[in-house]
Amino acid sequence: MQIRQPIVAVLGHVDSGKTSLLDRIRGTGVQGREAGGITQHIGASFLPSETIKETCGILYKKLEQAEHKVPGILVIDTPGHEVFTNLRSRGGSAADIAILVVDVNRGFQPQTNESLKILQSRKVPFVVALNKCDQISGWRKSETKFISQAIKEQDASIQTDLDQKIYDVVGTLSILGYQSEAFYRVKDFRSEIAIVPISARSGVGIPELLSVLVGLTQQYLQKRLNQEEKEPRGIVLEVNDEVGLGQTANIILIDGTIKKENSIVVAKRDSVIVTKPKAILLPKPLDEMRDPRDKFKPVSQVDAAAGLKIASPDLEGVLPGSTLYVATNDAEIEKYTKLIEAEMKSVFIDTETNGIILKCDTIGSLEAIVEMLRRSQVPIAKADIGPVNRRDIMEAKAIKENDRHLGIVLAFNVKILPDAKDESEDSHIKIFEDKVIYSLIDNYNAWVEEDTA
Ligand code: GTP
Ligand code: MG
Ligand code: NA
Repeated sequence: MQIRQPIVAVLGHVDSGKTSLLDRIRGTGVQGREAGGITQHIGASFLPSETIKETCGILYKKLEQAEHKVPGILVIDTPGHEVFTNLRSRGGSAADIAILVVDVNRGFQPQTNESLKILQSRKVPFVVALNKCDQISGWRKSETKFISQAIKEQDASIQTDLDQKIYDVVGTLSILGYQSEAFYRVKDFRSEIAIVPISARSGVGIPELLSVLVGLTQQYLQKRLNQEEKEPRGIVLEVNDEVGLGQTANIILIDGTIKKENSIVVAKRDSVIVTKPKAILLPKPLDEMRDPRDKFKPVSQVDAAAGLKIASPDLEGVLPGSTLYVATNDAEIEKYTKLIEAEMKSVFIDTETNGIILKCDTIGSLEAIVEMLRRSQVPIAKADIGPVNRRDIMEAKAIKENDRHLGIVLAFNVKILPDAKDESEDSHIKIFEDKVIYSLIDNYNAWVEEDTA
């Protein structure tokens, strides 16, 4: 059995240190070049097993003995800023396992919770990296890269302080339904979330973090990572028009192999397209795809998991966040076309029934919100991407006559056109607007509850 490299998503609140952690592992300086130090795109980079070996040091010995060794890791960097929910969920949905980064001095913050909900809804296992240990007041710098050693070198009061901060996280996670422990106290990695104190700045704790992560992967994710009989598929991160290349798509290949002679089957808003790549381009190992040090290399074939770029004029209008399949013959093209059509149908809703109207900025956020509304049993009359227009308000108005709690519009990260605004005021149609998925739904539910009481 051959297992592929796991896709590890790094999630957490803004400025908790996600990009810095990856920079430290890769030996790159991506964070320093970001505008305002804020990540605004999903990144991807490949960590070869050599890098894992070097980073883990003596801890690698044990990992090496596993029956199925991972051939490297594909790490996905996500933005922590609140407006990028769609990107977080896109990163989360591709992940096999995740690192939830928490600032040790701040504990859980709003997007920590949001990240956790994304992982929860996709059933992604994760490890907590309790970052910025070097900032604990009184923390003594030491030579070792191993946190278990570094802790021993701290004053007793600092050890107590760190323990308290770990227990705060344990407490918060427990309220949210998770059992967790400092990694050196974990007895069963299947039922307890491991918390690893680290510093992305000094590098301390990263050997333990990586070895816990790889250990978990090798022990529990074999089946998921086994490539036998897996449908070759990926997820579209971004679609761009690039100088010299034309239309390109950055994708994460999740399973299978993509070859230049294969056909790519992927969704646009109103159709499914089938196209052959003009070029497949691969970033160098350890290079961040969104900020590479070197040029991407043209290749004829890529095996999952990988971040890559494909060029093809047909890609214009492809929806970021949508799934893409790789077909090798006509029967497969037909099969995947049907699959994508069914996927689109479950996300883009247009019915005559009673339900709320939902407008979102991207297919990723649309998918996430539709899923959450379904779970809380809120019926949906229409779900689409794009600004709120007058027709949306007219539809809500008709629905309101039957059910005043459903005759509303939920608007996620989209504009409300002036005539829609006027119409909503004239006909008293409520529009719930938000840039945070969970508060959008919470606010709506709170209003229904209040109005019912
Ligand atoms: P977003 O992607 O924008 O959500 O942020 P991020 O989670 O990627 O955090 P980023 O790497 O941008 O780090 C935010 C700030 O924290 C930067 O100024 C980093 O230098 C600093 N920082 C990150 N890790 C550490 C750490 O371990 N110790 C200290 N002292 N500072 C850190
Ligand atoms: Mg970042
Ligand atoms: Na940042």
